[in-house]
Amino acid sequence: MRIFTSLSVFNLALGIAMATSPDLKVPQCPSAVSTQFATQIPSGPACPQTKVDLCYTNTALSLVFTALGETNFYFDPKQTTNGNIWEYEVMEAFISKGSDDPQTYFEYEVSPNNVTFNAFIFNPSRVRKANTPFDHAYIAEPFKDGFAVNTVLDKPGKKWTSHSTIPLALFNGENPRGTTWRINFFRTITTPDTFPNQQLCGWKNTGQANFHITPAFGTVQFV
Ligand SMILES: *[C@@H]1O[C@H](CO)[C@@H](O)[C@H](O)[C@H]1NC(C)=O
Repeated sequence: MRIFTSLSVFNLALGIAMATSPDLKVPQCPSAVSTQFATQIPSGPACPQTKVDLCYTNTALSLVFTALGETNFYFDPKQTTNGNIWEYEVMEAFISKGSDDPQTYFEYEVSPNNVTFNAFIFNPSRVRKANTPFDHAYIAEPFKDGFAVNTVLDKPGKKWTSHSTIPLALFNGENPRGTTWRINFFRTITTPDTFPNQQLCGWKNTGQANFHITPAFGTVQFV
């Protein structure tokens, strides 16, 4: 009984802590918040660092991805918007408005070739469970919709940086101040010698070689 009571108090305290401490607080541009990750998913030696700087305007989310320690800059030059750029090297954000573990969320990726992948993911099991639906709805013309991207490679400096703008109307999320979102960030690393094997890196570890685990998404507040 005593143990039960202290566990309940612990869970309550944890619940309050989770509700009040987001993983990231995103300010209005031109201020920005910065986060970094080097966790290999699901386990293994550390990945090279990846940095993400975020800020918002009333109509758009600004993401600046920086891949450090890059040696390959590996992409398929034949791939264009919404191609399978995730087979090579990309940086990614999975984004959902609201605090729930999402069943539908936006998957955004950018490659060192400045090519983007833009799709809503339908993942009703929240974990891409085998033999359950898993579907995509592509944004066909992102640059007509208000998206922007600009990617710069710095080969001597072993890094590439990509500035992305994502319209908040996509999420019914304009004027986001005060709202809570669920987001995860990823990076894939591969080389001509090791393709199609990839090193998977993430901000929040999903615990399996699968990015589509939404209970693992971080909590992000727009402030
Ligand atoms: C990246 O692609 C976008 C969209 O096509 C374009 O506006 C931008 O100029 C490109 N940037 C670079 C550095 O290629």
